[in-house]
Order: sequence, then structure tokens, then C-alpha cells
Amino acid sequence: MDKQAMRAFMGRFMEMTTGAAVMGVMAVADRVGLFPALAGQGALSLDEIVARTGLDRRYLEEILATLCASEILIYQEASERFELPEEHAACLADETSPYFLGGWSQMVPALYRAVPGVARACREGGGVPFSEFGLDMVEGIARSNGPGTRILLARRWLAAMPDVVEALERGIRVADVGCGSGDAALTMARHWPNSSVVGFDLDAQSVERARAAAGAEGVRNVSFEQCSAEAIPRDSGFDLITTFDVIHDLAKPREVLAHLRGALAPGGTYLMVEPVAGDRLADNLHTAGALTYAMSTLHCLTQSLAQGGEGLGAAWGPGKAEAYCREAGFGRFERLEVDNPFNAFYRVGA
Ligand SMILES: C[S@@+](CC[C@H](N)C(=O)[O-])C[C@H]1O[C@@H](n2cnc3c(N)ncnc32)[C@H](O)[C@@H]1O
Repeated sequence: MDKQAMRAFMGRFMEMTTGAAVMGVMAVADRVGLFPALAGQGALSLDEIVARTGLDRRYLEEILATLCASEILIYQEASERFELPEEHAACLADETSPYFLGGWSQMVPALYRAVPGVARACREGGGVPFSEFGLDMVEGIARSNGPGTRILLARRWLAAMPDVVEALERGIRVADVGCGSGDAALTMARHWPNSSVVGFDLDAQSVERARAAAGAEGVRNVSFEQCSAEAIPRDSGFDLITTFDVIHDLAKPREVLAHLRGALAPGGTYLMVEPVAGDRLADNLHTAGALTYAMSTLHCLTQSLAQGGEGLGAAWGPGKAEAYCREAGFGRFERLEVDNPFNAFYRVGA
């Protein structure tokens, strides 16, 4: 046995273990609002942080120690003060920043809750349904995807299709399928008041959140329906259909793609956004691939299999995506030039 290789593996394994444990403490810090309380404050003493947050002193002491040891906060030894650097605050405290990462620390513990169910399903078949992941999963998805969507959807993503943007300006009918908490649908409705947008989602909690957000913002040209993608009326004639991180989650992705093809108006456009991945396992053997496969095992795949679905999995690459779209009857399939580390953007049409 190569002991050096074993020690290197142990080091890597313990780094992952540390990340997994620290993520739990991050989740607590996120939940109690610690990061916004520290942002922009410079270096604070423990007493000042207790006063600012009203949190239990002993818990705070341990949480701050965890965050300093994991280099999330800076500890100033001489003055015994704690600082959240501006760059970290942009990722942890500012929910409007496209760099905001706080949603991950809400989502990851929700994924862990699925472990017993996924293990059972490994032996007996089936899976863990979306509804069993709870509100933390719904909110975690919205907080992870929402800020980027609100800032980049109009400016970068749809901008890659100038003819579609022109049509949106004139006024067209748009459907966002698997809309989750509604960020994409709301963003399109806000940007293009002459267009009307409908968000569809199977999950009642997500639709409720989306409706509440539309009501709170007073956006009138958007509506949300709790409806499975397969149940969207075939003769809807939408000029633009979008799906953001949805197709790989579906029980029946092939059937839904064929259905969306039917629900599109002649000459209409379908924008399919899916996780960045290569077509072969060998293409995905890196950190981002590990994250995609892990998310897939503990969420995307299992909730598809829970519905008796095909369990496509999140790491499907452009080759497979094109094959599925062509099988569904789409003649046009093109990967758009959008610079994004997480998502691939496909323009699909009849
Ligand atoms: C990963 S989330 C993405 C949500 C949102 N598009 C976003 O980008 O944040 C996938 C969404 O697809 C929805 N979904 C799954 N199966 C569906 C189906 N058959 N019909 C409609 N929505 C579905 C889930 O409820 C969930 O909200």
C-alpha cells in the first residue's frame, strides 16, 4: 500500500467532512441572521455581537469560533474581535447579490434529511418525493437561484436571443414551467410589461410563495398555477416557454418535452436551462461534477424516481439534451453563448 496516497486521501476526506460539518453551523448562522448583522460593521467584539443580535452568548462564541477557524470570519487576536470581510459579506449577507450563496447552507441540510429515505429506496426502489424535503428545500432553491435570475435573466440570458427580446418588448405570451417560487416569471413580467407570463409548478408551497411575491410587488401581468407540466393545455399557443433547472427533475422528461412542443405557438421559442455537465461520466470528474451528482442522488434523481419516473439525473450533457429534444419533435436545438458556470442554456424550437 502507498501510505502517502492513503494520507493524501485521508486529508481530502477530512476536508470534505469539515466542509459538511461547518455547513451545518453556517445554516444556523444564516437562519439567525448573523451575517447581515456583521456585514459592513468592521471588527466587532463578542459583547458587541451579542448586543447587535440578541443571541445567546455561549452559542455565539462557538459559532464565531467555527466561522473563524474555517476562514469565513477574520479573527483579530490582539483585540479579540470578529470581522466579516466585505467580499464574504457579498456572498453571505446580501440576498440581492448575484454572488449570494446563503441558499446553499439552507439547502444542504435539507438534502441530508433525505439520506434515510434514499438509502431505503436504494434497497426497495422508489424515492423521496419533493414535498418531503420541506420548506427549507423550496426556500433554499429560491435563495440560491433567485438572485442570479433576477439580475441576469433579462440582461444576459434572454439577451442571447435578441429576436425573442424584441418580441417580449412588443408583447407575447410566456410560460415558465416548474417556476418554483416564481423569480424567473416575475422577472420577465417586470421587465416586459406588454407581455403576459404564467408560472406553472406542481408544488403547492412554491406556487403559494410565487403568488405572494407577485402580490407584494404588485406585478399584474403574471399569474401562477399549481399544475403539472403534462397538464398544461396543449393548445395554449405560448410564444415563449422557459424551464429553469426543471427537465432533469421530472418523472417523465420525454413526455413533458413533447407536451411543451405542442403547447408552443408556431414559430415559438423554448428556452431550456439545465445544469452544466458533460455527456460522459469521464467529462464530469471534478468538483462541480461531484456537487451535481451528489445533488442529483439526494434530490433530483430520488424525487423523479419517487413518482415512478425515469430518474434522468442532473448531470445530463448537451448531447443527451439534444437527443431528448429531437425525440420530442423539436427541429431546432442550439446551445446559447451564455457565460455561466452553473447552467447551460439551450434555444429550442419547432
Ligand atoms: C429545481 S426546482 C427549479 C425551480 C425554479 N425553476 C428555479 O429555477 O428556481 C424544480 C421545480 O420543478 C417543479 N416540478 C417538478 N416536477 C414537475 C412537474 N411534473 N410539473 C411542474 N413542475 C414540476 C418542482 O416542484 C420544482 O419547483
